[in-house]
Amino acid sequence: MVVGAGNVGMIAAMRLADADVFDEVVLVDIDEGRAGGVALDLTHTAALSGFATRVRGVGSVEAAGPADYVIITAGRPRQPGMSRSDLISTNAAIVGDVARRVAATSPQAVIVVVTNPLDEMTQHAWAASGFPAERVLGMAGVLDTARFQALAALTGVARADQIHAWALGSHGEEMVIPLSHATAAGRPLTAAIPTADLDAIVNRARGSGAEVVGLLRSGSAFMAPGMSAARMVLAMVADSGEVMPAAVLADGSYGIRDVYVGLPARLGRGGVREIVQLDLRPDELAALREAADRIRERLGQLAEAS
Ligand code: NAI
Ligand code: 2OP
Repeated sequence: MVVGAGNVGMIAAMRLADADVFDEVVLVDIDEGRAGGVALDLTHTAALSGFATRVRGVGSVEAAGPADYVIITAGRPRQPGMSRSDLISTNAAIVGDVARRVAATSPQAVIVVVTNPLDEMTQHAWAASGFPAERVLGMAGVLDTARFQALAALTGVARADQIHAWALGSHGEEMVIPLSHATAAGRPLTAAIPTADLDAIVNRARGSGAEVVGLLRSGSAFMAPGMSAARMVLAMVADSGEVMPAAVLADGSYGIRDVYVGLPARLGRGGVREIVQLDLRPDELAALREAADRIRERLGQLAEAS
């Protein structure tokens, strides 16, 4: 089930249908016509993409019926000049409501949150759903990593898919890419790209969401975000055991506990199998802990406002 048939939900649903591994993909939107229209348009691509998945569009989580995996993109996107945190109260109400409905109709589901501000909304969805933490995770690190890979590849050092890195921390200002774990075609990226250029690439990846918003002038990025969310679900349904950066409830690894933050997570059919501990440099570890502290602060502000 994909809740929110807007730009990101549409692309996520397309990737899930294209994968041809689900009996059905259901799009849910308070704008039922939008959900139905996107679902029908996507259905029309079955022969073009070669899938047998049925695609349905409905106006409520209840009408969708039970699902194994739920991607939540419902909410308001960023507009130019708007930070992700500006969205917090509006989207908290939407995400909390959706998570409670999902918990009632799909009590065994795994929820992947996409709605911003990502880390805070993921924690909020976890609390509202009452689900165990391994069944509620957030998508940001896969996207932020993909952006870093794409931007690093522009230097000509390697193809994007030969660059490996981890975007951890928060989805925003406190994004952390530990360069000690970044490689291009198996070589340390720090040996292949001058430090100043690498720092510029990290900064551009951190600001990529805003860069796209500025260019679009209405709405925010959707292709890479939708594909990233679908990629996480496809790894889980395949029970792949793949390790991906995801917003997960920290369990004490990295010295962080009880807050959702971007960490490497091993994904399986039932959600997060384990948080994977990377051997980080002290400055990288400090940046990660700082990100967790900032997210915790913003969650405190959300609790005060509600
Ligand atoms: P959009 O505006 O195109 O789509 C949002 C959809 O949610 C709309 O169709 C709207 O009708 C629907 N909606 C609103 N309230 C709803 C409810 N209660 N139940 C069901 N549907 C509801 O926005 P877009 O571009 O798809 O972005 C969606 C969210 O994802 C935004 O919060 C955006 O900031 C976030 N985002 C997060 C990223 C990440 O890396 N985590 C990346 C890109 C976007
Ligand atoms: C992005 O990074 C807006 O969070 C969204 O594109």
